[in-house]
Amino acid sequence: QSQHDLCKLLDEMRLTKDAHEVAILRRAGAISAGAHVRAMQTSAAMLRAGVKGGLREYHLEAELLHEFRRHGSQFPAYTSIVAAGANACVLHYRAGNAELKPGELCLIDAGCELDGYASDITRTFPAGGKFTPAQRVLYEIVLEAQNAAVKVTKPGKRFMDPHDAATRVLAQGMLDTGLLSKAKHGKVDDVLASGAYRQFYMHRTGHWMGMDVHDCGDYTEPSSRPREEKDALGQTVMRKPSRILRPGMVTTVEPGIYVRPAKGVPKEFWNIGIRIEDDALVTAKGCELLTRGVPVEADEIEALMRG
Ligand code: GLY
Ligand code: MN
Ligand code: MN
Repeated sequence: QSQHDLCKLLDEMRLTKDAHEVAILRRAGAISAGAHVRAMQTSAAMLRAGVKGGLREYHLEAELLHEFRRHGSQFPAYTSIVAAGANACVLHYRAGNAELKPGELCLIDAGCELDGYASDITRTFPAGGKFTPAQRVLYEIVLEAQNAAVKVTKPGKRFMDPHDAATRVLAQGMLDTGLLSKAKHGKVDDVLASGAYRQFYMHRTGHWMGMDVHDCGDYTEPSSRPREEKDALGQTVMRKPSRILRPGMVTTVEPGIYVRPAKGVPKEFWNIGIRIEDDALVTAKGCELLTRGVPVEADEIEALMRG
């Protein structure tokens, strides 16, 4: 029993960051945000200049790494993703040598490690600096989903609440845009119950972050008893409820939409992949986003990229 109690205590301590750790996480987040800004601006500038051989994913990865190291970060916290156009729909893509075209989106998921602590940011932006109408429609849905998730990232809420809030907005957006047909899939509650949204959103909205980018720590509430729950297949399983968020915990908030070409899916959305990811420190009353040194609003991104 005492060993079990000790494990629980260690888990709680690991997940709840102290002031010293928070200071490093803030700095790591700020460095990574600066790197994303640099990559966005470089993308637009290189396309404007008409670089010989084309703008490549690795060009932007180089900008990220340069900015991390320039500010004292020792390593990237994970292998950077720089995904041109349709590559954004491949979840664990890395920066390759694909060409970034002005009319396409670029998804960058990159963060530095500083003094043993991680950061984890995703931004999706038009390589040439201007969203097309179809890109912007989906972008606004993902951003609204992120806002909904951030709102419930606060003490007393559970780890899965931000995911549920984001998924509801995404599912409604899929119905509104015709990604999911209303005739076939019904209303938003039907889509949530059937899981039809998973065609375009197949990952969770967050994970613990700290010394590791996907930090260890129990995602269920250690102090609760297991109870009956339905799993993804509708089977009844015994599970502890999702963990109650407390001040000092750090989670990512990273909704997305990924549209692969498929029958019945409006063509204008094909091959668009969008994710927006920030790191949230749970505070006494809500949460502090550690990574907003890089904008998320579509207009602000366009303004930044105009140079
Ligand atoms: N960069 C890994 C993740 O977002 O989970
Ligand atoms: Mn993440
Ligand atoms: Mn990430």
